[in-house]
Amino acid sequence: MLTFQPSPIQSVIWPLATQSGVTVDIKRDDLLHPVVSGNKWRKLQYLLDDAQARGCARLLSMGGSWSNHLHALAYAGKKLGIETEAFVRAHPEQELTPTLRDCQRWGMTLHFKSRVEYAELRKKTRWDAWQQRFADSYWFSEGGFSLLAIQGVKDIANEVQQHYDYIFVGCGSGATLCGLVSAFPESKVVGVAAFSGAEYLTEQLQVYLPQNTNWELDTRHHCGGFAKTTDRLKHLQQELESGNRFLLDQVYNAKVFLALHDWLSEGQISSGSKVLVIHTGGLQGRQAP
Ligand SMILES: Cc1ncc(COP(=O)(O)O)c(C=O)c1O
Repeated sequence: MLTFQPSPIQSVIWPLATQSGVTVDIKRDDLLHPVVSGNKWRKLQYLLDDAQARGCARLLSMGGSWSNHLHALAYAGKKLGIETEAFVRAHPEQELTPTLRDCQRWGMTLHFKSRVEYAELRKKTRWDAWQQRFADSYWFSEGGFSLLAIQGVKDIANEVQQHYDYIFVGCGSGATLCGLVSAFPESKVVGVAAFSGAEYLTEQLQVYLPQNTNWELDTRHHCGGFAKTTDRLKHLQQELESGNRFLLDQVYNAKVFLALHDWLSEGQISSGSKVLVIHTGGLQGRQAP
């Protein structure tokens, strides 16, 4: 079993927040574990328990060549002594990214898929394409999106004792956002989309959040697309890292602060408010170009 201690909440030292009269804290889920860190642990824990309870022989999933999800899954599989296998959106002749090299080192079998093939796989809501070959496998959807993942994220509420007016978090599949929205009904939860064209996600997530209005998807701070950066993003990341004792990844968490920067500068968060940023880990993404 993988078990972790609750992560700490720390103050963020940030002149912009001070000038705005807003308190910004950060929940350091990146400290949960060097590999299965941040929302990876939150999302995977109950799924891994379920896979084990069902006696599955293999953990199966899909992701891109910089996928934090596959990285964490490969590591968890190795620790739990369960085989792992993944469909990866990449060409076999391309040099492996450090993420995929780690996955292979931890024993994950990789199947490379073209963009078109990968898009086909995405359409499947459950694993039915390879019944024979993968009958005894446990299927983790892309990014781990599932009700059990959302359940795991909700557990964060047990570790946060004070009220926050706003909670900011990075958003990919939206599972983490869904968990936080349900767990913190008195806070406004802002999911910052890490990729472009995420507007469709609002409608998709409403299915999982029929009763909740305490959330918003910020689609303005993807910086040109998934894993894309801008000079503005890099400068803000450097400013925050040099003033604080945490590191950020440019794929998700730096974009969260970029969004918060603009919400503060635009006066969308009133003076006296308290904001909590959930650090969702993913620091291995710092190696991405
Ligand atoms: C570091 C990090 N932050 C945030 C997210 C977004 O999480 P979700 O897919 O639950 O929206 C991911 C993707 O899983 C991630 O790897």
